[in-house]
Amino acid sequence: MRGVLLHGGFGTRLRPLTHTGPKQLIKVAGKPVSQWALEDLRDAGVRDVAIILGELGPERVVEYYGDGSWLGVRITYIYQGYPYGLAHAVYIAKDFVGDEPFVVYLGDNVLVEGIREYVKRFADSDADAMVLLTWVEDPRKFGVAEFDERGRLRRLVEKPKEPPSNYALVGVYFFRPPHIFRAIETLKPSWRGELEITDAIQKLIDWGLRVDCAVVRGWWKDTGTPNDILEANRLLLDYKYRETVVKGMVEEGARIEGRVFIEEGAVIKSGSVVRGPAYIGRNTVIGPSTYVGPYTSVGDNCRLVNVEVENSVIMDNVVLEDLGERIVDSLIGANARIKRRDRRPRGMQFIVGEHAAVEW
Ligand code: TTP
Repeated sequence: MRGVLLHGGFGTRLRPLTHTGPKQLIKVAGKPVSQWALEDLRDAGVRDVAIILGELGPERVVEYYGDGSWLGVRITYIYQGYPYGLAHAVYIAKDFVGDEPFVVYLGDNVLVEGIREYVKRFADSDADAMVLLTWVEDPRKFGVAEFDERGRLRRLVEKPKEPPSNYALVGVYFFRPPHIFRAIETLKPSWRGELEITDAIQKLIDWGLRVDCAVVRGWWKDTGTPNDILEANRLLLDYKYRETVVKGMVEEGARIEGRVFIEEGAVIKSGSVVRGPAYIGRNTVIGPSTYVGPYTSVGDNCRLVNVEVENSVIMDNVVLEDLGERIVDSLIGANARIKRRDRRPRGMQFIVGEHAAVEW
């Protein structure tokens, strides 16, 4: 089976972080969101993967993943540019997939328990398509499934005002050529100007073709907004780092509590506390006098001095210095510097883009 990883889109809901690059490269719990997806594909036995590139920093994606050999996959890059919709992104992978079955994975989606069993299920079936569903409290902002009396998929509706069920589409789809491409060729842009993958799948159902569905076990997260990123970070820290691993150095007088993953070259300086679940990247220096609280991921080459931070995602090369109040629920872009000069408010939340400098 082949894989198609969607890495385009505008990521408007994650500005300013997406002013400088694609949202799928935002590092969560130590890895870009799309790397968790790519590793999930690989672990399910999908080794040939096309990455669909958008207009935002496509060169960064190519630079980061290269030919994929370091991850055990073979990557082909396909440039989409403007985001004309998921169905458009799938269509431009037509030559890449040829006549093999394939799985489409949205590069900003995280499935903590992976897709291995669904890849096997689809490979063993002769269905034309398979969608993954999950139960959600409020389905109105998702693609939602409607079932017939025998529990088979009857209809898919995008963001319905009156949802026909609580089962939302997860961002992983399975197809067997050629019908999906024929279906996409008949589509017209939706009200939001996109070629919708739900419309293409609906065509398959309407044509009487076989569209299976499976309900995913475990957590699924679509990382479209800052809060989603923080939640994905919590999920991944809980699920992927099951024990404390210290590859770097913890100085005498520094404390590590709970599950903490400390990468090579990182130093936790005396008088500092790291309370897990937490992840500390390569060559990052924590302290002196610094507290890193639960559900925090700190990227590579960061410096945190005299700071308290909790439930936050801090990307690479960030400097945080002498902040009198605790930073909570924050997303801090790569190369940002935040430093306090003056005493003022209590409790601060930041969504800071790359290369930002904040002083007060
Ligand atoms: P969305 O989150 O729906 O779109 P977006 O990235 O433009 O975000 P926003 O609404 O904040 O502006 O896209 C879902 C995933 O599919 C995401 O990983 C981006 C990707 N995508 C493409 O690769 N090509 C496309 O044409 C579209 C619409 C999305």
